[in-house]
Amino acid sequence: MVQIKSPAEIEAMKPACRHAADTLVMIEPYIKAGITTDEINDLVHEFTVKAGGIPAPLNYHGFPKSVCTSVNHVVCHGIPGDKKIVDGDIINVDVTTIINGWHGDTSKTFYVGEPKIKAQKVVEVARKALDIGIAVVRPGVTLGDIGHAIQSYVEGESCSVVKEYCGHGIGRVFHEDPQVLHYGKPGTGLMLKTGMVFTIEPMVNFGKAAVKVLGDRWTVVTRDKSLSAQFEHTLAVTETGCEILTLPGK
Ligand code: MF3
Ligand code: CO
Ligand code: CO
Repeated sequence: MVQIKSPAEIEAMKPACRHAADTLVMIEPYIKAGITTDEINDLVHEFTVKAGGIPAPLNYHGFPKSVCTSVNHVVCHGIPGDKKIVDGDIINVDVTTIINGWHGDTSKTFYVGEPKIKAQKVVEVARKALDIGIAVVRPGVTLGDIGHAIQSYVEGESCSVVKEYCGHGIGRVFHEDPQVLHYGKPGTGLMLKTGMVFTIEPMVNFGKAAVKVLGDRWTVVTRDKSLSAQFEHTLAVTETGCEILTLPGK
């Protein structure tokens, strides 16, 4: 069941969405060689709690930390730990904040120091893939239209789209209907209506699309160990297009 959210409900989601976006702004200056992903986790946790928020990942289906940190060939759901990031790494920080019972979900891939050529390629393709997906969103288009736009762009850049994980409806619940696939055929799937709220979050691999989950049951990696990058926004469908909810405040 895909919910339609009222204008008041969409307004109510904004503090959570804005805070998640502000968290990515807060964390950016800390993304330097030598910081551990645990330290990133602690900064995100403190920043969220201080604002009266709850970090949604913590204990979500048993996830042990407050944020996902996915380095290099880690596609998503990386668990913060004691490993230091080093120059030339790429790291996705995926923040989901709950405020007043509403969720906001956004992520960004950062460069650690100067990017290498492959890193720059996959990160810029992932960034643009999200933008291209968002540009399609308006009432009357279908989820397949979004997926197709993303997939054809990414594959045209000789990268690949991860098929096993997708965007999702979001609101009082972290992951709700619909599933927003980042691949598909034009004109297929659910037709968008004003008031739908969901994420778009394409995972783009430099190499092949295949992924596997590590023994910790969370960390998703590329099978060929190629680099993977991701960007995510939470957005609401409007009469004329969409409103990105996960933009930072001033
Ligand atoms: N934030 C992720 C998403 O974009 C989900 C993380 S689930 C967790 O949907 F448990 F790993 F935190
Ligand atoms: Co999400
Ligand atoms: Co997320």
